[in-house]
Amino acid sequence: MRMYDIIKKKRDGGELSTEEIKYFVSGVTDGSIPDYQTSALCMAIYFKGMSVRETCDFTFAVRDSGDRLNFSEINGIRVDKHSTGGVGDKTSLVVAPVVASLGVKVAKMSGRGLGHTGGTIDKLEAIEGFNTTLSDADFIKQVNDIGFAIVGQSRQFAPADKKLYALRDVTATVDSMPLIAASIMGKKLAADDDCIVLDVKTGSGSFMKTVEDSKALARLMVDIGKSAGKKTVALITNMDRPLGCAIGNALEVIEAVETLNGHGPEDFTEVCITLAGHMLALAGKGNVKECKKMAEQAIQDGSALAKFKQTVAAQGGKVELIENTANFAKAKYVHAVKSVKTGYICKADTEAYGLASLALGAGRNTIEDAIDYSAGIMLKRKTGDFVKEGEEIATLLTNDESAIAKAEAMLLAATEIQQKKPKEEPLVYCTVE
Ligand code: URA
Repeated sequence: MRMYDIIKKKRDGGELSTEEIKYFVSGVTDGSIPDYQTSALCMAIYFKGMSVRETCDFTFAVRDSGDRLNFSEINGIRVDKHSTGGVGDKTSLVVAPVVASLGVKVAKMSGRGLGHTGGTIDKLEAIEGFNTTLSDADFIKQVNDIGFAIVGQSRQFAPADKKLYALRDVTATVDSMPLIAASIMGKKLAADDDCIVLDVKTGSGSFMKTVEDSKALARLMVDIGKSAGKKTVALITNMDRPLGCAIGNALEVIEAVETLNGHGPEDFTEVCITLAGHMLALAGKGNVKECKKMAEQAIQDGSALAKFKQTVAAQGGKVELIENTANFAKAKYVHAVKSVKTGYICKADTEAYGLASLALGAGRNTIEDAIDYSAGIMLKRKTGDFVKEGEEIATLLTNDESAIAKAEAMLLAATEIQQKKPKEEPLVYCTVE
């Protein structure tokens, strides 16, 4: 088999065989295929696409390129949720304890933030002492004992994706539907879950900017999950505005705790209840309506918060911080961003909000960058709200005084204010089963 022939076949619109796809992915993994040929094939896929069969083969080859977890020693149904990434998206911190408190196992592997999007592992590490690296045995024991454990991706999962993603990033081939689907699902399927709920974000803060594109990506990922024998559903959720009011690691943990206490922002609470409802339904706890009620109840009666505290304690985190969130370390500088106009906030460029938070120290440009856990943004007004000139629309928090002016300018430029109240967009557009 020759890489030249595979590139030519795809360039001319042909369908690659399972063997050709396996040959390509194994050559990427062992380094025998040079970057220029890998990039050329990614570009050919970008323009000519892939059939569902090709995309499934590609995903499975990516999944099989590295370690795979074996959760057979975990008793009970295991369910996971994966978000395609957004701003202020701290849903895992709420849905995992909600679901675990209702008897469904959550054995979660999460990532770190990069660029404008945050990562669950960084958020948890804002809790002093929280250990995000557990041995396989400790991880499995914790899931069996308390129903929920969460770790970072320390193993060699889907190494082919690591190389492919780095090349796609510099060859303008990231936003290809089959390449994104294979990248996300290749990693997801390396974990051994029974059920997967995909939270496919749509809008200015996400990869997919339109609902139609998000639906097509969701359809493809659901088909891949099902052909791997996993019960899979996807929700298309709104990322045209940050989720909740907090952007930044410790700020988001505090907001998640408030939500588990039943006092979270309405939009964030609604998305969490919907995701948890679908996770419980996939795990066989009832229909989605019944499961959403159960999720609400787990928040009202305190069992979800108790499960979160139990997990924090089990992983070495300081539970006092969860019991009294006022004890989280505070940023040195607090700056109010005031509206320059009177009117309705009709548009907020969510990606720019994420970048403003990154400028304050809450995120990282490269994977080696350090994070300021106390930095970030608290939104006082969001899309659809009325604001008067001079009124505070957001609070910036940082330990780097020099970052304030830049972040303020970014936030103001990203917030469009007009006289007409904007049309209200749904938080959850639809479900793809
Ligand atoms: N997230 C991933 O893991 N891969 C992509 O290609 C896009 C988003």
